[in-house]
Amino acid sequence: MPRIAFVNGRYVPHADACVHVEDRGYQFADGVYEVCEVARGYIMDMPRHLGRLDRSLKELQMAAPMSRGALEIVIAEVVRRNGVRNGLVYLQVTRGVARRDFLFPADTKPSLVIISKKIDPAINARRAEQGIKVITVPENRWERVDIKSVGLLPNVLAKEKARAAGAQEAWFVDTEGYVKEGGSSNAWIVTADGVLVTRPAEHGILRGITRTSLFEVAASLGLKIEERGFSVSEAKAAREAFITSATTVVLPVVEIDGAPVANGHPGTVALSLRGAFFDVAEKRLA
Ligand code: PDD
Repeated sequence: MPRIAFVNGRYVPHADACVHVEDRGYQFADGVYEVCEVARGYIMDMPRHLGRLDRSLKELQMAAPMSRGALEIVIAEVVRRNGVRNGLVYLQVTRGVARRDFLFPADTKPSLVIISKKIDPAINARRAEQGIKVITVPENRWERVDIKSVGLLPNVLAKEKARAAGAQEAWFVDTEGYVKEGGSSNAWIVTADGVLVTRPAEHGILRGITRTSLFEVAASLGLKIEERGFSVSEAKAAREAFITSATTVVLPVVEIDGAPVANGHPGTVALSLRGAFFDVAEKRLA
């Protein structure tokens, strides 16, 4: 089945999908995005993702490309036309095409691109079985990381550094030694008492949709969550650590900067959260 992209009002073959050279997303990273997981043909947490998209647009004084209802239909159509049952759908809105100028252009229509791709669920299942390794890097991003902006160069460099070190994620650490979040995921630990700890999402991190949904999943398992900062040394000494994101759901962390977390094997809490997450999704499907 050939891949199809949605670009500014048209469904086009993926190979021919183009945006203008003076799109502000291309020149200034003047755009925002969302990534939703597709599991068994179901687009996970779409209302929450579109709610966060609205917020990102508002924070940057950018117009919505179409109504929420129309967007839902187009997203589902892109997933359908690509025959994606498991994978992701990526949506990007930029301030549009205009002669290069730092100032906001007047009367420019926002650009909208939506693509979808298949991902073999066995890949993440294997990573969950093995657990992932993370490295820590000093925070060097702008303050508004709560906005899901396409300006991701520090994240790209941090994740590349992780790969060079044989790790799969990089955790940004603030000047006090507290973990903020990963290059493309939120960070969590489990204390000796079995309490889940994650940094408050008011400042300094993206309010992950998987993070938000995990509050409900944790409650269904009778687990307590504490929203507070945790340091790198607390994480290294924790009972478990894990990450959450739309593309990974829950993945256990077994090593931080070369030091094993607990016995160096995926923790049972992270794995049961991962299982319960899919149970919740399956219930929604039923
Ligand atoms: N990234 N923090 C950052 C910096 C992220 O880029 C992401 C997601 C998250 C987790 O958010 P959510 O649970 O809504 O996916 C946290 C996506 C997956 C990406 O850029 O591909």
